[in-house]
Amino acid sequence: MATAELAGKHLVLGMTGGIACYKIAELTRLLTKAGATVQVVMTEAATQFITPVTMQALSGRPVYTSQWDGRVPNNMAHIDLSREADAIVIAPASTDFLAKLAHGMADDLLSTLCVARDCPLLVVPAMNRQMWQNPATQRNVAQLRADGVTLLGPDSGPQACGEIGDGRMLEAKATYEAISSFFSPKILSGRRVLLTAGPTFEPLDPVRGITNRSSGKMGFALARAAQQAGAEVHLVAGPVSLETPWGVFRQDVQTAQQMHDAVMRSVADADIFIGVAAVADWRVAHASEHKIKKTAERALPSFTFVENPDILASVAKLPHPPFAVGFAAESGDLEVHGEEKRMRKNVPLLIGNLGPLTFGLDDNEVILFEAGSATKLTRADKQTLARALIAEIAKRLPDTSLIR
Ligand code: C5P
Repeated sequence: MATAELAGKHLVLGMTGGIACYKIAELTRLLTKAGATVQVVMTEAATQFITPVTMQALSGRPVYTSQWDGRVPNNMAHIDLSREADAIVIAPASTDFLAKLAHGMADDLLSTLCVARDCPLLVVPAMNRQMWQNPATQRNVAQLRADGVTLLGPDSGPQACGEIGDGRMLEAKATYEAISSFFSPKILSGRRVLLTAGPTFEPLDPVRGITNRSSGKMGFALARAAQQAGAEVHLVAGPVSLETPWGVFRQDVQTAQQMHDAVMRSVADADIFIGVAAVADWRVAHASEHKIKKTAERALPSFTFVENPDILASVAKLPHPPFAVGFAAESGDLEVHGEEKRMRKNVPLLIGNLGPLTFGLDDNEVILFEAGSATKLTRADKQTLARALIAEIAKRLPDTSLIR
């Protein structure tokens, strides 16, 4: 599916030598699926890890590996390839290639292309942790940043060599998200966004509990869209099995009370709060410390419930609240209940899910309730819708100078 950020973009994808070259096959697929054209350029070393044939098949374009490639009519591949590009992305970027870039060396097609470029350069490092920590590498990285090069990653974790630490390349999906983010309009630049997402889990005993069918997809999509719009994003997530969007700070919680406490600790810093979580309204007053046993003689268990705090309403009640946005999933008559709920929660904007069965689905249709109007947005997949909602929220923000 083409995405707004990458559709029609032309990328030079420069590959250098490293085992992470296998991730670039998937990255190329994601970029082309999003509507970008991908021109692969490989160093000699990269061809030892994955073949140009594979990269040609995935990108749908001939791959360049040599400065002396006669296929470019004027024989100036190093100039022509970068002039067509919206950006050059080096992935994986080896220790050696970072050093070459930092010193402006130009001794093969890819390095010459980078020196001759007139477009942004994004670099995705991939190397052993000692190579990454080496002072020479760190000097080169600092120099590249000072030169305006954008570094994506590296990640931390187990490495192909068996060691654990910083230096591994971001996964293909995260690299793809970081590249999309680079091209997104920065309509929330300088803003801090706090979100809740997913269900909560209220324990009955150490193994059982009450939860709901919220998948967290809409909240995670909004967190991703806000990050891509340039915001600093803090996502407080209930129990969900979703990957953290690239660049988002995620805090996992289980219960409504924990979610409330996490939000209240951070809300003073937020310019925008978006409550997407399906928070349990009640919890068991005294969850059992031990697993409740099922025995022939024992009567059926019964529980006393107490009310959970309303996180959204608590945020809206603060003396200097951030711009607070709520969500509502109603089982009927959304038009009436949506506006009524917005007023009861005392928020400027409430987003109503049309139809109660959006839990877990990949697309959604919503109505925006605000004082004096209700606006329907067209049905779309949750990521497209999230982008549209972030644009709608950005439009309604008070002027930065008026924000606390
Ligand atoms: O009252 P209701 O649960 O329908 O309201 C939904 C909105 O309120 C959502 O934005 C949800 O995240 C928020 N909410 C909350 N804390 C609660 C209950 C709901 O923040 N305890």
